Amino acid sequence: MISHVPPSAALLDHARRMVPRYTSYPTAPHFSAQVTGADYGAWLARLKDTAAPVSLYLHVPFCQSLCSYCGCNTKAVRREEPVRAYAQVLAAEIALVAEQVGTTEVSHIHWGGGTPNALPPDCLEELAAALHRHFRIPAGIEHAIELDPRHLTQEGARLLAGIGITRASLGVQTLDGDVQTAIGRIQPLETVAAGFAALRAAGIAAINADLMYGLPRQTHLSIADTVRHMLDLRPNRISLFGYAHVPWMKSHQKLVVEADLPGAEARIRHAGLAREMLVAGGYVEIGIDHFALPDDSMTLARDARRLHRNFQGYTTDEAGTLLGLGASSISRTPFGYAQNAPDVAGWRRAVDAGCLPTVKGRAFAGEDALRGDVIAQLLCYFDVDLAEIAASHGAPPEALTADLDALRPFLDAGWVTFDGKRLAITSHAHEIARVVASAFDAYLGQGGRHSMAV
Ligand SMILES: C[S@@+](CC[C@H](N)C(=O)[O-])C[C@H]1O[C@@H](n2cnc3c(N)ncnc32)[C@H](O)[C@@H]1O
Ligand code: SF4
Repeated sequence: MISHVPPSAALLDHARRMVPRYTSYPTAPHFSAQVTGADYGAWLARLKDTAAPVSLYLHVPFCQSLCSYCGCNTKAVRREEPVRAYAQVLAAEIALVAEQVGTTEVSHIHWGGGTPNALPPDCLEELAAALHRHFRIPAGIEHAIELDPRHLTQEGARLLAGIGITRASLGVQTLDGDVQTAIGRIQPLETVAAGFAALRAAGIAAINADLMYGLPRQTHLSIADTVRHMLDLRPNRISLFGYAHVPWMKSHQKLVVEADLPGAEARIRHAGLAREMLVAGGYVEIGIDHFALPDDSMTLARDARRLHRNFQGYTTDEAGTLLGLGASSISRTPFGYAQNAPDVAGWRRAVDAGCLPTVKGRAFAGEDALRGDVIAQLLCYFDVDLAEIAASHGAPPEALTADLDALRPFLDAGWVTFDGKRLAITSHAHEIARVVASAFDAYLGQGGRHSMAV
């Protein structure tokens, strides 16, 4: 969508629909307590005999202060003591999970949050050492971390390089002071630029930046200004997330003044403007909300159709298993999803008792894997060969025909095309890719409230 061409009323109607982000399929609202720690343990035991590498996700649910828009599982802490206590339990969970899955090879590590750099330096070092004690971690794998630039020092960056971090994601969101006041996150350009410089000086050359649109009081000008500064700082990847306003799930989002929020049309225009500027500035558009430099591994993975979607959004990680560690983390195995207790106290009680802290999940059944693949391909490449994908899952070619009926209005509007095999979302309808993908979601409408499609 070109930012100065107004979106049609029909497209806007779809853009306002509330649909999942599809970082998993089935999506989290369809997880249930039927999946227990015993089930997850049995899945891990089945993996023990395979030589397939796994990837690791470590969740750190702490921040120095809460941003009013935040949708992550985190809380503000002022004291170090609860963070240290958490790190100890996380080390115990690493040992517990490794015992079940064996000394498996790891292909990718990601620290997310919250704010992983809220961990004291010695805790970060001790946790990294625990990973090396319990898993086989080859040199040179991607080892990524999410960081808050307001709390990143040169010394901190050197420490991260020392524990093997190869890629860092900085939360930028916006550089507009007025918007920063509205979201309770004051972070001048100098702070962000110092974060980039500290990482690069420490030898962490792969940098991602998170930007957001749809924030309160955000305007065309402020988006343009933020993107211009990003083009100067030139991170290897940029995420452009649409603010997901879900105050029924995240009560502190009630601090966001709803009257200040841009509507669907402004959101489409703002995202379109950022996209045009980033592409003109040399970035390649990846899926619905990512941009990467042409030589970045994500661009290469996209071109080779080896891109994947996981709970962090897009990833080059090809492991079939992601072991989620820490409160609220979700693991994905070839057999299904398992989610840890979301509250630190419940998670800690289970680990202290020597039990896997799973409280819910979802075992794959029926067409889940097929439908999950269709949705992921549409969101990764904006197209999918339905005949080929059905065949690869051992399903008859007509397995997805009924779902195409739901897309009839999209075909008539020219937002999608179908040549009998390949379904493609046309470029002026990329904004509603999640809506198109949702046509293949067999569970849509069976519970769960979501955020706006655009
Ligand atoms: C874990 S934070 C990044 C690291 C660090 N905590 C920070 O904020 O600098 C992950 C990212 O999620 C995005 N995010 C958080 N809440 C969101 C929401 N409600 N809607 C869309 N994106 C959101 C932000 O872009 C944020 O940078
Ligand atoms: S956006 Fe980052 S720093 Fe802000 S509350 Fe969320 S996790 Fe914490």
